[in-house]
Formats: sequence, C-alpha cells, structure tokens
Amino acid sequence: MGRTGGRSSVKPVAPPPTADHTVRVTTDISTHISTDISTDISSGAIPGRDELADLYDAVGWVAYTRDLPTLERAMQGSSHVVTARKEGRLVGLARVVSDGATVAYLQDVLVRPEEQGQGVGKRLVAEALAPFDAVRQQVLLTDDEPGQRAFYQSLGFAEIRDLDDGSLRAFVKFG
Ligand SMILES: CC(C)(COP(=O)(O)OP(=O)(O)OC[C@H]1O[C@@H](n2cnc3c(N)ncnc32)[C@H](O)[C@@H]1OP(=O)(O)O)[C@@H](O)C(=O)NCCC(=O)NCCS
Repeated sequence: MGRTGGRSSVKPVAPPPTADHTVRVTTDISTHISTDISTDISSGAIPGRDELADLYDAVGWVAYTRDLPTLERAMQGSSHVVTARKEGRLVGLARVVSDGATVAYLQDVLVRPEEQGQGVGKRLVAEALAPFDAVRQQVLLTDDEPGQRAFYQSLGFAEIRDLDDGSLRAFVKFG
C-alpha cells in the first residue's frame, strides 16, 4: 500500500509479470455496480497508462509513476483490479493479489484528493475484496499514519500488534 508505492524512496513491489496465481478473477467477471452517488465502481477493467499516471500522481505516489511500465505490469499481474469513475474520469483504484484460496493481499487503495471523504475508498476495498470473502488471511501494508489506521479499522482490519494474544508478527523485505 502506501509503504510500497508512496512518497518514500522505497521501490514499489509489483507481482511478477506472469504471476502464478491459481485464481485470476480479473479476466471474466467484469462486473459493474452503479452507486447511489455519481461515482461508479467497476471490476475487471485496467485503466490505460495515462489515466494511471494521472491518478497515482494525484496522491503523490511518484515511486510508481516514475516507472509506468512496471505499474502496468503490476495491474496486469493483479488478481483483481477495481476502479472508481466519476463522469468517466478515473478517480480511484484498489487492487488485490491473491491465490484465491488462502491469502489475499490488498495492494494500493487510492482516491483522488478532491474525491476523498465520500465513501469511495471504502466501496473500492469492499468491491476489491468481495471475491475473497472466504479467504481467511486478508493482509496489507500501509504507512504509520492515523488517517490510514482509521480507514482500515473502519473496514474491519486490525493491526497485528492489537490482535488479542499478540502471537503474530509481520515480516517484510524490500528488494
Ligand atoms: C486512504 C484513502 C484511500 C481513503 O479513501 P476515502 O475515499 O477518503 O475514504 P472513505 O471516505 O471511504 O472513508 C471510509 C472510512 O475511513 C475513514 N477515514 C478515511 N480517511 C480518514 C482519515 N484521513 N482520517 C480519519 N478517518 C478516515 C472515514 O471516516 C470512513 O469511516 P466511516 O466508514 O466510519 O465513516 C484516501 O484517503 C487516499 O487515497 N489516500 C491517499 C492514498 C493512501 O494513502 N492510500 C492508503 C494506503 S495504500
């Protein structure tokens, strides 16, 4: 999430170009959900390079937009990409990398600054994770920032350090 794609100098970690996910839900589901406000949430359609650059730049994730071919490969290799559009313009995106059975990794949730605070992020995450309801382990990395903590807590995520018995640890390695 922000940790891998944000303003920090850390390089984005993308799935391999031909990721061997056993379940690819991007290909066939192409659902479309009309929402109660003027922003539409859609599954399965990957935005073009210019739209991606515009959106990622809008939230300052220049580590991604410095290397757009890698960002495009990340989209193609993702198990599920969900977009938010207002009057046709791309205003948000969320994506999941998963084996479809045991683990779903939520990577990148972003909403254009002028569209934030209206429930778009929450709807993006709900739609992105919907195919993985039965997957027990849903995980993400994000920056240590109170707004992001509040956002993910509102979606039912808990920080590992807050879990009941404190027996879990998370490890990460950036290449
Ligand atoms: C984080 C982000 C995706 C949230 O999107 P959003 O559309 O503004 O969030 P929503 O309006 O759907 O908010 C959902 C819930 O999170 C809470 N929330 C969201 N941002 C918050 C903030 N900065 N501070 C406190 N609470 C926040 C909302 O109050 C809401 O709670 P509720 O359901 O109890 O009312 C958006 O701020 C963003 O794109 N930020 C830049 C990129 C980023 O940091 N992404 C996250 C890390 S990958």
